[in-house]
Amino acid sequence: MQGRVLLMITGGIAAYKACFLARLLQQAGFSVRCAMTDAAQKFVGPVTLRALTGQPVATDLWGEGQSEALDHVEYALWADLVVVAPATANFVAKAAHGIADDMVSTLLLASPCPVLVAPAMNDNMWRHPATQANCATLRERGVHLVGPGSGWLACGTVDEGRMSEPEEILQAVKDLAATIELRPDETPSLSGPWAGRRVIVTAGPTQEAIDPVRAVVNRSSGAMGYALAAAACAAGAEVTLISGPVDRLAPRGLKQHLKVGNAQEMAEAVAASLDGGCDWLLMAAAVADFRPATAADAKLKKNELGETWRLDLVRNPDILKEIVPDHRSDDTVVVGFALETGDVVNAAQAKLQEKKLDFVLANDPTQAGSGFGDTAHQVTLVDPDGVVWESESLPKPLLAVHILDRLEAARHGAGA
Ligand code: C5P
Repeated sequence: MQGRVLLMITGGIAAYKACFLARLLQQAGFSVRCAMTDAAQKFVGPVTLRALTGQPVATDLWGEGQSEALDHVEYALWADLVVVAPATANFVAKAAHGIADDMVSTLLLASPCPVLVAPAMNDNMWRHPATQANCATLRERGVHLVGPGSGWLACGTVDEGRMSEPEEILQAVKDLAATIELRPDETPSLSGPWAGRRVIVTAGPTQEAIDPVRAVVNRSSGAMGYALAAAACAAGAEVTLISGPVDRLAPRGLKQHLKVGNAQEMAEAVAASLDGGCDWLLMAAAVADFRPATAADAKLKKNELGETWRLDLVRNPDILKEIVPDHRSDDTVVVGFALETGDVVNAAQAKLQEKKLDFVLANDPTQAGSGFGDTAHQVTLVDPDGVVWESESLPKPLLAVHILDRLEAARHGAGA
């Protein structure tokens, strides 16, 4: 699906979910630009959305800050459809009355295209006759509404008023988009520090064959590696994604997608890709440390294996430690990932020294929001001097954008 979506973000706690929505819209094929109210910027920085979309974020009618030299009428005319998510009670009221007193409300009034609004507010504000009347006015005018749903509200109650989940809003956008004419977007992406950088990302588990049908595997979902690859692509990098067996859609804009099965194949793919030149290696794959000593050619028969079956395992090559040093250039920045429990930072630093890495992204799978496949995730960025940054627990697509920002900043800070 192509098409241009202008995502307007107003000031509710759900603003952080709008970042995820921006990413989902892009993955669905839409070009996305964003506009944010002052209040929205108290929850999420425009820099994050600028990095996600590769476009300036409209924030200020008077040309200060992010929206310098940004023509709001041009932004309004650019869009095929407008999505307001989250839409606060205040913004719904302004929209219903045609008030245009800041960048976002002005853009909305100047946008001739279809509009989808995702309200998000406290349950009493939502039920208030004024809000209900404003929503009715918007509907009569042809504005589409999605949600709100019920669930935990920021005020601590469980009730109606919660913004629809990004996936649900995406579906509503797709439904609306199917009814209108959509235009491709040829706007070049802003060039940021990742533009043109050669980035290799490894992702997912490796699968070590026991016989043709059985394998030693691990539970890596590949989510973090794929999110990093997607974020790097969106930031204009030339990305090679080397992936173990996972059932995931490749991010848009990859230079190369190498699918491998076992650790040996991953090692070969990493070596060959490094030989082609690499600025950043992000080693997010959960490479199996051991593989069966022999892989049988035919399926092993249960009856012949007896009651207790001993499987001999041998060490796989440690790709970061044993393969990468012979193939990286002096300028390649090498980032390892470490799953640690207990003293995570110390363990991560030990790993950094042992494997001669520039950075380690550590996480503790025993902490809530940091396990395999969790959509929200928390990481700690460590360099030889200690902790560089501790992230909040964020959805992986969003976390990936922050990780790239922090790595780039830390690279200069550390002189790596
Ligand atoms: O030593 P540990 O497995 O905890 O280190 C994790 C880091 O090392 C990850 O970045 C992972 O991709 C990498 N690794 C590797 N080769 C292995 C095992 C892990 O490069 N055989």
